Amino acid sequence: MKAAVIEQQGGVENIVYRDWNDPEPAAGEVLVRVEACGLNHLDIFVRRGMPGFPVPMPFISGGDIAGTIDALGDGVNDWSVGDRVTMNPQTHQGMIGEEIIGGLAEMVCVPAINLVALPDNVPMETAAAIPINYGTAHRMLFARGRLTKGETMLVLGASGGVGLASLQFGKMVGATVIAAAGSQDKCDRLIKLGADHVINYSEEDFSRAAWQISGKKGCDVIVNFTGGDTWVPSFRAARPGGRVLTCGATAGHDPQTDMRFLWVRELDVLGSNSYSQDDVARSVGYVASGDITPIISHTFPLEKLGEAETLMEQRGFFGKIVMIP
Ligand SMILES: NC(=O)c1ccc[n+]([C@@H]2O[C@H](COP(=O)([O-])OP(=O)(O)OC[C@H]3O[C@@H](n4cnc5c(N)ncnc54)[C@H](OP(=O)(O)O)[C@@H]3O)[C@@H](O)[C@H]2O)c1
Repeated sequence: MKAAVIEQQGGVENIVYRDWNDPEPAAGEVLVRVEACGLNHLDIFVRRGMPGFPVPMPFISGGDIAGTIDALGDGVNDWSVGDRVTMNPQTHQGMIGEEIIGGLAEMVCVPAINLVALPDNVPMETAAAIPINYGTAHRMLFARGRLTKGETMLVLGASGGVGLASLQFGKMVGATVIAAAGSQDKCDRLIKLGADHVINYSEEDFSRAAWQISGKKGCDVIVNFTGGDTWVPSFRAARPGGRVLTCGATAGHDPQTDMRFLWVRELDVLGSNSYSQDDVARSVGYVASGDITPIISHTFPLEKLGEAETLMEQRGFFGKIVMIP
């Protein structure tokens, strides 16, 4: 098969579109013919290398996979060849595309217990935008963040994968969403997608703007997976007793902090990691029922993975970038 292979960690020049041995499903696994694979910031971290997370090279990343079952391993009885599927990439052997070989390839083997059936009305490209972004946002907002109707939530990086999922889930449950992004064009699109308020943080202090929008009360919930210089200003935008949710640190994992906000405002800082099979299956259900509509920013043929990852690194997208093998 063909695959977009990371030969060694570093820049996009290390991605080579080339032949790779056809995978064969072990017992309990299925072979999936990949029809679409969504990109995540994780793919960039895997390619660049993350301290403390060694990845065996050469490697194939890609955890947001949609496709059809091509072959069944021994003992797989609940699925059939030709079934349309997506999956929870978090397997008992590790994360697909981070710890075990991923789906930026023509085929991939995955444990059958991780599969989620794809209804016919969900196109493959759309399905490839669901598991990681919506699974992550679902767990972070509801299991960890206890977001409820009527609350005000500020989302930083609202134009990206997890950010848009957070905006859409927030609106789905009746929260007031303040969506913050890095350009006016992105803010205009966020308004069209239902954001109640937008903040262009390339031009204004998001913390001050969110405080004003909240009527100087502060936001109930802040979603911050950006980290870096945005960390302390997030505390400033929270109301006393508010929750600051994080699942990542795109702009830096070791920001300076200011503990005074934590005790004076009695803030809860809640980390959220990964998602369950249920988070992914529910997200697929919300898409199939029309409650949630993933936004596809760009599609690229798989051989252009380097170009697609550069677009992601340069923040020149809105929603999901999807690769087609
Ligand atoms: N723990 C978990 O299980 C888990 C799961 C999924 C994702 N994550 C983490 O969540 C974060 C978001 O993931 P994602 O896939 O949604 O990423 P993404 O699609 O690339 O979106 C990130 C957004 O953050 C904004 N941003 C702000 N500062 C940035 C910077 N210095 N570099 C790049 N983008 C910046 C960008 O929007 P603007 O240009 O509008 O600012 C961008 O659209 C990542 O850190 C990822 O590792 C964690």
